[in-house]
Amino acid sequence: MRTDTPPTIYRKDYTPPSYWVRTVEMGFDLEPSATRVATRMTLERNQTSNDKVLTLYGEELQLVQIRLNGKVLGTKAYQLKDGVLRIPTTAEQITLDIETLLQPDRNTSLMGLYVSNGNFFTQCEAEGFRKITYFPDRPDVMATYKVMLRGDKKKYPVLLSNGNLIEQGDLGDGRHYALWEDPFKKPSYLFALVAGQLVCQEETIKLKSGREALLQVWVEEGNLDKTQHAMDSLINSIRWDEERFGLELDLDRFMIVAVGDFNMGAMENKGLNIFNTKFVLANPRIATDVDYGNIEAVVGHEYFHNWTGNRVTCRDWFQLSLKEGLTVFRDQEFSADMIGTDSGRAVKRIDDVRVLRQAQFPEDAGPMAHPVRPDSFVEISNFYTVTIYEKGAEVVRMYQTLLGRDGFRKGMDLYFERHDGQAVECDDFRAAMSDANGRDLTQFERWYSQAGTPRVVATTVYDAVHKTYAITLKQSCPATPGQKNKLPFHIPVAVGLLDSNGNDMQLHLRGFPQVQSTVVLELMEEQQTFVFEDVSEEPVPSLLRDFSAPVNLEYDYSDADLAFLMAHDSDAFNRWEAGQRLAARRLLALTATAQQSGAVLTTDPALSESLRLTLNDAALDPAFREIALNLPSETVIAEQMDVINPQAIHQARRFLRQSLAQALRADFIEAYKANQTPGDYSPDAASAGKRALKNLALSYISELDDAAAHVMAQTQCDGADNMTDRVAALGALANSTAPGKEAALAQFYQDFEAEPLVVDKWFSLQAMARTTDVAAVRKLMQHPAFSLKNPNRARSLIFSFCNGNPSQFHASDGSGYAFWAEQVIALDAINPQVAARLARSLDRWRKYAPSLQSKMQAALKRVAQTAKLSKDTKEVVGKSLA
Ligand code: PHE
Ligand code: ZN
Repeated sequence: MRTDTPPTIYRKDYTPPSYWVRTVEMGFDLEPSATRVATRMTLERNQTSNDKVLTLYGEELQLVQIRLNGKVLGTKAYQLKDGVLRIPTTAEQITLDIETLLQPDRNTSLMGLYVSNGNFFTQCEAEGFRKITYFPDRPDVMATYKVMLRGDKKKYPVLLSNGNLIEQGDLGDGRHYALWEDPFKKPSYLFALVAGQLVCQEETIKLKSGREALLQVWVEEGNLDKTQHAMDSLINSIRWDEERFGLELDLDRFMIVAVGDFNMGAMENKGLNIFNTKFVLANPRIATDVDYGNIEAVVGHEYFHNWTGNRVTCRDWFQLSLKEGLTVFRDQEFSADMIGTDSGRAVKRIDDVRVLRQAQFPEDAGPMAHPVRPDSFVEISNFYTVTIYEKGAEVVRMYQTLLGRDGFRKGMDLYFERHDGQAVECDDFRAAMSDANGRDLTQFERWYSQAGTPRVVATTVYDAVHKTYAITLKQSCPATPGQKNKLPFHIPVAVGLLDSNGNDMQLHLRGFPQVQSTVVLELMEEQQTFVFEDVSEEPVPSLLRDFSAPVNLEYDYSDADLAFLMAHDSDAFNRWEAGQRLAARRLLALTATAQQSGAVLTTDPALSESLRLTLNDAALDPAFREIALNLPSETVIAEQMDVINPQAIHQARRFLRQSLAQALRADFIEAYKANQTPGDYSPDAASAGKRALKNLALSYISELDDAAAHVMAQTQCDGADNMTDRVAALGALANSTAPGKEAALAQFYQDFEAEPLVVDKWFSLQAMARTTDVAAVRKLMQHPAFSLKNPNRARSLIFSFCNGNPSQFHASDGSGYAFWAEQVIALDAINPQVAARLARSLDRWRKYAPSLQSKMQAALKRVAQTAKLSKDTKEVVGKSLA
């Protein structure tokens, strides 16, 4: 057994491959317990390389035979060690034949070729292709693929791979075949095959150029009533990319396939996107408004990858954010444009920033903090993070903020003009943005190289005599692992100034022309002062409008300033932000009080009055009112404390919600009544916004946990004609002492037993209910529907508890941590990627009180000392303990 620590891979060590692969031909004989794979590749020496060895990678493969230019290679003609196959050669041209044998039915890692519910699927990003055959499995090696699939006709009537279907037919003996050819060269991580009993919804559309394309959404039989929304989303994505970026679908056929066992959200394999069912299947009965929105976003995301990721791909995995950050930015813009209204866009923006603060800010402040373009990793799967994705998207958004929409588009055009068909670096993207706009973006590079969330402290001085208003911005960035001292970032800070009526002032920044309402200050030094002229009265500043940079901005607002901004700011993001600042202030104070024994928590009429105004402001969209009435989460509050006390935070937040429910009960009841959505269900933004506000009202009223609240929730639960309303009501009941609670949970299960995605919701809402402790989770794990093997199910119960129920997870006896360790270890033996994600739940252990810290440390050590731990999990717990 190997006990040594797995090696770290460094970005600085990148070397080009010694051989390029030009063509790949593969033949698969599909059998669950023994699939034979014959691969023929033609290779060409990379003239710039001095390496006299051809290097291929393989994992968990049974190697049958290697032939070099037709001749069988004896075991002395190559070296095979630790998954690396080295063939000494300097030949200009090579034909390599490799035969491997796989056991897809025993593949629980869900990487490479695996079986799910009797069907075959592949997942090759990042390094899964090497579980199919030995190959130079690295993204800068791009080839064209021709794939022959053979299998039992009855068991696998559908045989799919990338590109175009060239030929299909019968093989006699009950088997058949299909031959696929992908005309575009691609890295191996974009390879895919699917085989099994599947059915599809299809549609032919005309592309902008007039060409026709066949679109298909493949699902298991019985799910065809749940594909329309994914199809609509796909068509909208295609149209949007044509319009916004002038990018057209380059294939004649584009397929989406849904699979119930999947590690991630979805995968952008060329022409054959494979999706977690969670991001495909929807109808009103099983999917919530949030599900509908997520499906639109993920379908868009994977489709957009066709250009940003596939046509232009990554040189190496350190450049992952080149495709992910950019593609998340694109899907965010797509979703915003689909809503269409200004206020809808703002709500989408707020949602995205909430994710960033809830998940990325803690990551950036913890032991796994890494730059958007990391310098090293042990296991690349661990770097599919909120930093790469969401912070990466913020970095891309900043180009647009600095260059404007048109400037950003120019940069995109130049990027494709230069790099179509290439595997490139983040720096190439920055260069395209810079060159297309004649802008120096040298310093902007630090967003890629430095980790940590920058802190920007603003101070202001109003000079009533000279009518000037000076804003001083001072930036710093906390130390992160391996990066002690940081250099200043190039930070766009969008600013507006409100006059005493709450209107935007005209802005005359010294040295610049006058602008209407918002100006983007470019903070480049550690400290800079920006002076506004002709400022007739002391304004209230609206800082970092639309969240123009992923930073923590601090300014000494008075409570009155914040209430004023909440009521008047023309920037909807900052209207929301002001409310959050006010609420966070109260929550932090209440948390401090809750930590003193015998202290009494007290209400705050000023906050509830401000929130009352927002709640009742008919000029505001219901969706905005809902998001504004939502208090900062327990995690967000925790990040603002020096020492986290989960129970005190929970108590404080619960108290504040209860007191708001008391103060605003009549208003909530009114909002509940006013935001009903009678008639047929539709997931459009306006209807979804109304339901969101109505269900927010229900959740506040339910905090009172009285008979009237119980009746309200029970009535909604029984009468709901859509999953949004049903699950909201069930969630309210699950958090209550309602007498009908157990019966409601049981009934829900009975009604939706046959719908795995709904059963996930059922586990999840119980996992996050406030009375659910470790013992209750263990009991739920005994339920016949529970399984650790299915990632969605494991996430629905175990992850929901460990990440979504902080006050119970952090029980003072440490029982939550012991449970966590057990589950990480159990999962690691099944699926290292999923285990390593769960392992992240203790990232912030050093921020807790010593008594909890020591128990977390013990749990981490227990995992770290487990024999045969995957390198995925080893890296995460190792970095946590370091
Ligand atoms: N590349 C996929 C996406 O962002 C995510 C993914 C990564 C899926 C690794 C599977 C495995 O859309
Ligand atoms: Zn992606």
